[in-house]
Amino acid sequence: MSMWHERWAVKKTTWDLNGPHPLTKSLFQNCASLSPEKAKGRWLIPGCGRAHDGPYLLELGAKSVDGRDLVPQAIDEAGRLYGSVANLRLSSGDITQVSYDDVCAFDCIFDRAMLCALQGQARDNYVNACAQYLKPGGLFASLAFASTSQPEVGPPFQITRSEIEVLFGGNWRIECLEERFDGPCDQKILSEWLLIAQKL
Ligand SMILES: C[S@@+](CC[C@H](N)C(=O)[O-])C[C@H]1O[C@@H](n2cnc3c(N)ncnc32)[C@H](O)[C@@H]1O
Repeated sequence: MSMWHERWAVKKTTWDLNGPHPLTKSLFQNCASLSPEKAKGRWLIPGCGRAHDGPYLLELGAKSVDGRDLVPQAIDEAGRLYGSVANLRLSSGDITQVSYDDVCAFDCIFDRAMLCALQGQARDNYVNACAQYLKPGGLFASLAFASTSQPEVGPPFQITRSEIEVLFGGNWRIECLEERFDGPCDQKILSEWLLIAQKL
């Protein structure tokens, strides 16, 4: 059993906002300004947890949303909340294992506290997997912890601007990287990145 399975088993899902993220609308609108066709296309949410942002992305104009999480319990809980929402598909599995059918299948990725939940090489592996999921010109849209009151405590952890620039320095172009203080800031989260990187 992984650390993630244990956290779900004891319901230590401290990152969960019990609803869509307050910056999801800004993130979606920024994507739509960059590429209206991509924003209206097929979205993937890696590490979706309870998938609160899935129905909201559909409401904002996404054609379909696939939420995936490593832990079956997360998907069960998401299914109980949103299982009847049209064009929202939920499934469990390791997001870094990209199946043949999923290569270049998505227009946009919505990442909230997934990239920053990982550390070291796992971040590179995740970004590489995301590049495989996206079509050329596809958008990686993320809300990631920029600074936290206890940087050593996680996951999720904070991620620095320079780490993001290195991770998205290859086959990507960073279109937006803003530090925002108007998200769900609390005693732990001091600020979050609003990041959009385009796959070249
Ligand atoms: C910090 S939580 C964020 C959940 C959700 N995005 C949210 O904002 O509520 C990270 C999630 O990623 C999932 N996860 C971790 N590693 C994963 C992997 N390799 N593949 C798919 N999901 C993974 C965990 O089970 C957990 O639900």
